[in-house]
Amino acid sequence: MKSQTKIHSSLRTIEWKNNTVIMIDQTKLPNKLVYVKYTNYEDVANAIRTLVVRGAPAIGVSGAFGLALAALQSKAKSKENIIKDLEKAKKILFETRPTAVNLIWGLDKIMNVAKKGKDVSDIKESMIQTAKKMAEDDIQTNMIMGKHGAKLFNNNDTIMTHCNAGALATVGYGTALGVIRATKESGKMIKVIATETRPVMQGSRLTAFELKHDGIDVSLIPDTAVGYAMTNGLVTKVIVGADRILRTGHVYNKIGTYQVATMAKQHKIPFYVAAPLSTFDLKSNSEDVIIEQRKASEVTGIAGKKTAPDDINVINPAFDMTPPELITGIITEAGVAKPPFEESIKKLFKSRL
Ligand code: MRU
Repeated sequence: MKSQTKIHSSLRTIEWKNNTVIMIDQTKLPNKLVYVKYTNYEDVANAIRTLVVRGAPAIGVSGAFGLALAALQSKAKSKENIIKDLEKAKKILFETRPTAVNLIWGLDKIMNVAKKGKDVSDIKESMIQTAKKMAEDDIQTNMIMGKHGAKLFNNNDTIMTHCNAGALATVGYGTALGVIRATKESGKMIKVIATETRPVMQGSRLTAFELKHDGIDVSLIPDTAVGYAMTNGLVTKVIVGADRILRTGHVYNKIGTYQVATMAKQHKIPFYVAAPLSTFDLKSNSEDVIIEQRKASEVTGIAGKKTAPDDINVINPAFDMTPPELITGIITEAGVAKPPFEESIKKLFKSRL
């Protein structure tokens, strides 16, 4: 079931209330702040697939909420049968988007809770409580990450960011934009430059919207003006989020991140990545990572208006990979990893054991 209500409140991207998942419909931003409500997991899967909700940590928690809804929807009377229903739902939720590792992290975490449940009612209750806690933890994690990251930024910095790694990409506060928020909260004067992030425009529709909403000085540039901004001294630092980080420090993030990082290196501008430990994939190698390819219409038109000839071939990857040699530091809730990343990432995880 999907109903639409308009609620005036501060930005909380996803919430669980009265056995219902409530999300900001990000496809409507920046023109309308609309909240959608879901009571079944198929709708949540569809919301992830169609970018109603997007951003790695946000889809991790959405996956967990989706699976908790699947538990409530299940008519199973035995533990064995509810687990079967949940496995089916997990597969549907997992297949929505392949690149951000947080989705499978959220699904696995909640599935393990289900497997430990005593009986059907214990499974349902513990899944709901765990999913709600994951949402609260996400905000806390971002705030801690923000505190670590704020130390790396100076008064009067102008910080470039790409795509949206903000409150809207998480449950609240944000990863890269969380660091920007924390820097501002620490009393430093900062300005932000947001790239518009074609083809889906997360930078102009979401980052510009949420920073303006919170009174943070933001200027929007076309993606093609990154070099201009850097060569003209308009940028002192860059910070982006991540969808998946390998143990070697290779960072998968929104398409175009690699170009921004390369340009930052060329201009000796520090390039930071902010992401929670749930975004790290310590097992995979780069050849294992699937880069989501999205539909051609995102490239052949803007806001429903055709901007390319009919039947043109399109290549539309949603993410690219930035190699570690272009990265100055990776900010997490456990501290900041610095090159060589293989060692520093290992240390961050060890500190959590
Ligand atoms: O396709 P999206 O909008 O889900 O991609 C999200 C990103 O790549 C974000 O920039 C981000 O850094 C990861 S989420 C904090």
